[in-house]
Amino acid sequence: MSEVKFYCKDQQVPLEMHKVRVVQKLFLPTVEERVAKMNAAGNNTFLLQNKDVFMDMLTDSGVNAMSDNQMAAMMQADDSYAGSETCNRLLKSLEDVFGTKYFLPAHQGRACENILAEAFVRPGDVIPMNFHFTTTKAHITRLGGRVEELVCLSGLDPRNTDPFKGNFDIPRLEALIKEVGPEHIPFVRIEAGTNLIGGQPLSLENMLQVAALCKQYGILSVLDASLLQDNLYFIKVREAACKDMTIREITRKLADAMDLIYFSARKLGFARGGGIISNNEKLILKMKEFIPLFEGFLTYGGMEVRSMEAIAVGLQETMDEEIICQGPIFIEQLVKELDAYGVPMILPAGGLGAHINASEFLEGMPHDQYPAGALAAALYIAGGIRGMERGTISEQRNEDGTERYAELELLRLACPRRVFTLSQIKYCADRVKWLYDNRKLIGGLKWEDEPAVLRFFFGRLKPLGDWQEKLAAKFRADFGDSL
Ligand code: F0G
Repeated sequence: MSEVKFYCKDQQVPLEMHKVRVVQKLFLPTVEERVAKMNAAGNNTFLLQNKDVFMDMLTDSGVNAMSDNQMAAMMQADDSYAGSETCNRLLKSLEDVFGTKYFLPAHQGRACENILAEAFVRPGDVIPMNFHFTTTKAHITRLGGRVEELVCLSGLDPRNTDPFKGNFDIPRLEALIKEVGPEHIPFVRIEAGTNLIGGQPLSLENMLQVAALCKQYGILSVLDASLLQDNLYFIKVREAACKDMTIREITRKLADAMDLIYFSARKLGFARGGGIISNNEKLILKMKEFIPLFEGFLTYGGMEVRSMEAIAVGLQETMDEEIICQGPIFIEQLVKELDAYGVPMILPAGGLGAHINASEFLEGMPHDQYPAGALAAALYIAGGIRGMERGTISEQRNEDGTERYAELELLRLACPRRVFTLSQIKYCADRVKWLYDNRKLIGGLKWEDEPAVLRFFFGRLKPLGDWQEKLAAKFRADFGDSL
């Protein structure tokens, strides 16, 4: 696969390798309505109604476009509680892609995390990972475990253009294992396409090194493959040693090295659902009983059979080198255009979406005025675009009630796969640029209603002062009657 193949030759414009056959009409409220709706939603983009959103860039989870082949497969789902042919087809597809024999189905990624934590985490345990994900950490700490993040230094440096910023710092991992003792480390979690630092990939070499170190110390290696798809693409185009390998070969080499793999099929495979796979029967037996308890019978695990058919086909599409590039090259287009304009972006472009460094965009705004949340509110006002705060609001307070400031204050603009056209991506860039020109008008937020747990989902905030009205007035002055 050559990187250039799926771009227009002259302009490096990314090319959709699909055509649109089903559409959904969008609606763009006026800027005055957007101010009102943002406030009705407590300045929290999770609380907006989707009908009021023009570009939904909240997440890539469960909103990727399905293919005609996936839809066709869904029609032949074998609707049975136990022993469905659908489950057999999914097993076969998983074995074909990952080479694994065993599969425990679960309703989504965090359900897998719950089961892994129940089976392996005990109070006082330490779970090293390149970086945490919100739900992963919640399940581990709920059971008295502790998360240690060991991402390489460049991972937390927004402007560092290291191609694999999700890599583990291997010497730090080994030092931690020696310090804590392998008996207190039930597993090391490797998160492909590291979500919270901007969808940054790990190299195949790094993941294999982590797995080898785990083996050396008798610790389990667990791959979170939810964001593996984009990571595979980056391995192929950025890791010199892998450029002549197929995506299937890379996937197999990686899977062979891991003890356990789990995934959210809301991301991997353009579908819904999730599961845990392995070739180690003993490990599977340790978790098996939790499936009927928390999820559903062993051949559906809380998933609809139709979703399972969609995963079986979607996984095969994930191995298609003309499809796998579709997320990353459109994200790259957005990042490149904004970076060229001077907007502080997380570089290099990663998977999942484009990530704006809100601390730098709103230079001088303190963490406790929530710059990433303020920027998310401002972008909805500027363009009806719904992004996601990935900063201090997404953290949980310390036990003494003080704020735990996020290492990075990010506004994430997810690009669900095969969903947006290039003109929509350009619209998004256009509104972010306008906002950047007017960034001095953006003010902070304060809590109005702050839940003790998962505050980023349910919490409500208020603007500090009348900056949102002023921003809307400037929009009117600049855009006239236009939406
Ligand atoms: N692991 C990673 C790396 C994820 O990004 C997610 C979800 C999960 C696990 C949990 O999977 O949602 O199916 O339960 N990320 C979503 C997001 C929520 O918007 O980034 P899930």
